[in-house]
Amino acid sequence: MNDAPLDPLTALRPWAAPEVTSWRRLPMNAVDRRPGAVPLDGDWHFQLLPAPDAPLGEVWSSSYVPGAWTMQGTDDLPRYLNIRMPFAEFPPDVPAANPTGVYERGVDVPAEWAGRRIVLQVGAAESVLLVHVDGRPVGISKDSHLAAEFDLTGLVRPGERATVRLTVVKWSDASHIEDQDQWWHGGITRSVLLYAVDPLHLADVTVRARRDGDLLVECRVRDAGGPLPEGWYVSGELDGQPLTQDAEFDRANAEDERVSDFLGEARLRAAVADVRTWNAETPELYDLTVRLHRADGTVADTSRHRVGFRDVEIVGRDLLVNGERVFIRGVNRHDFHPLTGRTVTYDDMRADLVLLKRFGFNAIRTAHYPNDPALYDLADELGFYVVDEADIESHDHAHEIADDPRYLGAFVDRVARMVLRDKNHPSVIIWSLGNESDYGANHDAAAGWVRRHDPTRPVQYEGAAKRGWADPGLASDIACPMYAPLEECLAHALSGTQTKPLVQCEYSHAMGNSNGTLADHWAAIEATPGLQGGFIWEFWDHGILQRVNDGRPAGRGGAGLHDNGVAAPGHRWAYGGDFGETDHDGAFIADGVVFPDRTPKPVMFEHREIAAPVRIEAFRHEGVVLGNHQHFRGLEWLSGEWELSLAEGTTLTAPAELPVLRPGETAAVPLPFVVPEDGGEAWLTLRVTTAGDEPWAPRGTVVCLPQVRLRAACPPAHTRVPDGTVEVDEDGLLVHPLLTSAPTLSLWRAPTDNDVLGGMADRWRDWGLEAPTREVVSVRRSPGRVAVVSDYLCAGGTVRHEQVLTAVDGGLIVDESAELPEALHDVARVGTVFETVAGLNLLEWFGQGPWESYPDRAAGAPVGHHRLPVDELFTPYLRPQESGGRHGVRRFTLSAPDTTGLAVRLDRARQVSVTRHRAADLADVAHHDELVPRAGCVVHIDAAHRGLGTASCGPDTFASYLVAAGVHRWSWTLRVL
Ligand code: GAL
Ligand code: MG
Repeated sequence: MNDAPLDPLTALRPWAAPEVTSWRRLPMNAVDRRPGAVPLDGDWHFQLLPAPDAPLGEVWSSSYVPGAWTMQGTDDLPRYLNIRMPFAEFPPDVPAANPTGVYERGVDVPAEWAGRRIVLQVGAAESVLLVHVDGRPVGISKDSHLAAEFDLTGLVRPGERATVRLTVVKWSDASHIEDQDQWWHGGITRSVLLYAVDPLHLADVTVRARRDGDLLVECRVRDAGGPLPEGWYVSGELDGQPLTQDAEFDRANAEDERVSDFLGEARLRAAVADVRTWNAETPELYDLTVRLHRADGTVADTSRHRVGFRDVEIVGRDLLVNGERVFIRGVNRHDFHPLTGRTVTYDDMRADLVLLKRFGFNAIRTAHYPNDPALYDLADELGFYVVDEADIESHDHAHEIADDPRYLGAFVDRVARMVLRDKNHPSVIIWSLGNESDYGANHDAAAGWVRRHDPTRPVQYEGAAKRGWADPGLASDIACPMYAPLEECLAHALSGTQTKPLVQCEYSHAMGNSNGTLADHWAAIEATPGLQGGFIWEFWDHGILQRVNDGRPAGRGGAGLHDNGVAAPGHRWAYGGDFGETDHDGAFIADGVVFPDRTPKPVMFEHREIAAPVRIEAFRHEGVVLGNHQHFRGLEWLSGEWELSLAEGTTLTAPAELPVLRPGETAAVPLPFVVPEDGGEAWLTLRVTTAGDEPWAPRGTVVCLPQVRLRAACPPAHTRVPDGTVEVDEDGLLVHPLLTSAPTLSLWRAPTDNDVLGGMADRWRDWGLEAPTREVVSVRRSPGRVAVVSDYLCAGGTVRHEQVLTAVDGGLIVDESAELPEALHDVARVGTVFETVAGLNLLEWFGQGPWESYPDRAAGAPVGHHRLPVDELFTPYLRPQESGGRHGVRRFTLSAPDTTGLAVRLDRARQVSVTRHRAADLADVAHHDELVPRAGCVVHIDAAHRGLGTASCGPDTFASYLVAAGVHRWSWTLRVL
């Protein structure tokens, strides 16, 4: 029996009490306190207890703050579950086994803080924080992704050392509303600091800056000692220009007997002439300084802000920024890092946003909680529209919690605290009440709070919008579905009943090799009033860098142990199940447009082109028509170069003069080249780069590569007069000095995540497409020609394959056909596969590239002459799957350094892949590091290849991208170099 007096914070058992959202936590505000603070980041003494009421041990280890203990060598490891809670208890209860981290350190309180108000700020702790100083209880906080502040004045003595203890309980009633689709961690994931202010201080500052130049700054002033002293006042300046005090407001308050003398409110105003407005393309910011003065004029407190003048409004069914119906080219972003789990630095966030800018994104949804505060500063500065989302997701128990009055306070608290923190950011254009928590009275209560407190921004909540896009009720001003089929969005926009802007909060699920039909979506969005875009799910693949030998996270020491999306030898990107969990959701955590080390996946290039600010609208004989597809900017920040690619020639270049175009305008520009008579198929590309340095890209960074075909290919004039000999074995299989495996029929691909979760992979397995039995029906030999008919016997039916091999001068023509019975509708591919000898390590091709592309994700890969080492063709998706394909390939060579090798010419543009892996090699392993590359190349030439779609979460590809039953014909020539 432990006789120690029970600690009052522990006695309250706040981890199973949703009514307790905090105790003695200071109100959230938007005053910037970071300058002058004492940082408390670094190693803290640490103990991990098995439960919050377990006794403290004798032995301390250490833990780095900010950081998750789950990433720092404890036995409590990261765990991934999407929807299901990691424990069975019903809300608000939690399991008795409840890891609890106790962090302790000494803090030297500066002597010069005597007489000041001293505040402790804990940036983020999940999921319950109990604070003690020198053994005395200070306060409690929940809300894992927002800071908690506590007043330590009187508890610590300036000039002396105090012991701060932060106890972090992992599981709580709050976990039930923090059930987001991500890793579960425990710890203090954002910085801790101590700061001091004058007792007379700015308690909050609210900035309203409109696009007409009207600026209103509302200041809330408090004195820690109680009543405000006589004579205080505020002053401010904007870019050095003084603001005026709103005397009218002061007088009205003084005359209103309902307003108390202690009101502590003041307003500053300005009318900025010729204001430079803020938008995501030209994020103009002004510097605002607000000062609080004592009666004698001395400054008691100062707060600095960056101000953007802009309006957000909904007019009819359009969401307008500064009166413009902007397209939302968004992505969902978590605070994620492969070494820390959750903790991100300023540089990390800057790198995220810079990358997104470079790939044409202009919007972020902070899925699914308020992100690190610096993210919003960066969004203001670099130009992003932000949907700021509150930390509420009760996915597993959504229905029970949405109307549970015990959680009412938590809902309102979380939404309100987010709004109070982030309200001054011009980048934040919409408040989101959270994610996947059904819809109940608790949401309406939170929405009501926001509408009263910040009428300047719309509110959205998918759970409400789900009730009816035209009438989501109080909780949503936006129809913001997730993964809605495009045809439903179109039908709604065309129905005549639409009342709200339609911006999908999540769409185009980026799991593995995915994002098929993105270009089709955007063609529809841009052509359909009422549709305004959406947020791709999601930015990151949340793979944690893991040591393979002991299964531990590499942690902060793992820096540099990855390159180009690939973990170093002995390491891998861990996903669900890799930390010994038995209950998990596998690779569903790896669903981003970038790898865990931020290497862009091929879809990023697709997106960059879809978002192109300047486009080739049309080609007429005298020239091309260029259009400006931005909302606010001209083309002056861009420079261009024309490239003319001839299929049977080279690429010519010429400087491009971009016309002066306002947004939405087009202009004809003359063709920069006389297209040579010969050279076959001809493509004109406008290589658009930044003309000068942008905050997110140095001069010369590629912005887009719009392209138009100037001349179609002539059908190949094969002479099929046999000339030479064709050698086949007794099975009719080609014998060729450069091939280790003869060309045979392929109907299968290593299932993508979409194929698996969409059910296609199972169907293909049931049909036996992976390894059909080949039975030779006939081998007919004639001089210089062999015609082979074979049947590929699958459980789902028999596919008849004909291959006619004709020797011609210098090579071999391969004419093929395959007849798929009706039952085999929608297979992965119909085409040829063969394997080469080792040493052919360079692929050069004329077709789409240079990055990976597939039939329904091919808008961003321009046609041209491309070359890449074979090892760089493959995309290392975390769970190996079909990868490395190139769409629209007309011909290619595969060569050794001594330029020997083979050349293939296709009858028309087709899907090709050259990798070191058979489809079965890929399908057999769970992680990229388990793949053993083959020495030779595995070459696929597809007559037809199925689109990728997004069926791992959302719509599959369109019918037009499916591989239908019936007869497929293709032909190609093979030549030795
Ligand atoms: C959504 C959810 C996201 C994520 C996604 C699938 O339903 O809001 O958090 O789970 O699906 O990856
Ligand atoms: Mg969820």
